[in-house]
Amino acid sequence: MANVVNDLKTLWHLVARRASGSTHQERLESFYSGQANGYDDFRRRMLHSRQEMIQSVPVPQGGVWVDLGAGTGENAEHLGPRINDLSKMYLVDLSTSLLEQAQARVQARGWQNVVPVCHDATTFVPPEGSVDVVTFSYSLTMIPDWFRAMDHAYSLLKPGGSIGIVDFFVARKYPGDGHTPHGWSTRTFWPPWFGSDNVFLSPDHIPYLKNKFETVMLSERRGKIPYLPFVRAPHYVFIGKKRAE
Ligand SMILES: C[S@@+](CC[C@H](N)C(=O)[O-])C[C@H]1O[C@@H](n2cnc3c(N)ncnc32)[C@H](O)[C@@H]1O
Repeated sequence: MANVVNDLKTLWHLVARRASGSTHQERLESFYSGQANGYDDFRRRMLHSRQEMIQSVPVPQGGVWVDLGAGTGENAEHLGPRINDLSKMYLVDLSTSLLEQAQARVQARGWQNVVPVCHDATTFVPPEGSVDVVTFSYSLTMIPDWFRAMDHAYSLLKPGGSIGIVDFFVARKYPGDGHTPHGWSTRTFWPPWFGSDNVFLSPDHIPYLKNKFETVMLSERRGKIPYLPFVRAPHYVFIGKKRAE
């Protein structure tokens, strides 16, 4: 029963309530503040391939990992015991409600090396300066200047460092060899459907990533959306490396 009530609350925020505010941070907070409690349960059924993305990224012993747009910090769970190999993991987000959930998780788990930080993903620089891993899970589509966020991830990474991304997307009309074309209905239906929640699907993430990083793995998929039985939303998983200079 509690799950159904949480789902209804989350659906109301997703479908009926429009984010308000004059800054990006205010709009994020107005969108998330009423659904932060039910966030993990609902998003587990909607944000596919996060665990696989996190588990596909190598964890360097003593390394620094920055998760940009980390929300409640669920990705830290997906690392499992490998989290202890990191010297630091920064969970960066602009929504204070979601970061409170992340902080509660860190305390409950007793992680000494995991630090939630309220900061913009396009400008966050940790005290270490450069890092070994940057990840984005379903956050690039919510960052208006996503290209700036990718450029910033590139500048944070050490040469040879890893980047892992999973996010919704739509393909270009002519996506090129090795990519899955999306029909007119897919390319037309999903952008406005997600756009009403300020989630902006782009046909340009994958080409930009392939141009900027060495591709280690790229997979284009589809996944279920709760309460939408007949459709599957497209998402991609990209694992890449910053080329040695
Ligand atoms: C769909 S949620 C994904 C959260 C988490 N990565 C996950 O997989 O559950 C997108 C997140 O990006 C955050 N976000 C959006 N724009 C941001 C920005 N400019 N800087 C930091 N975080 C941002 C939002 O607050 C939100 O937590």
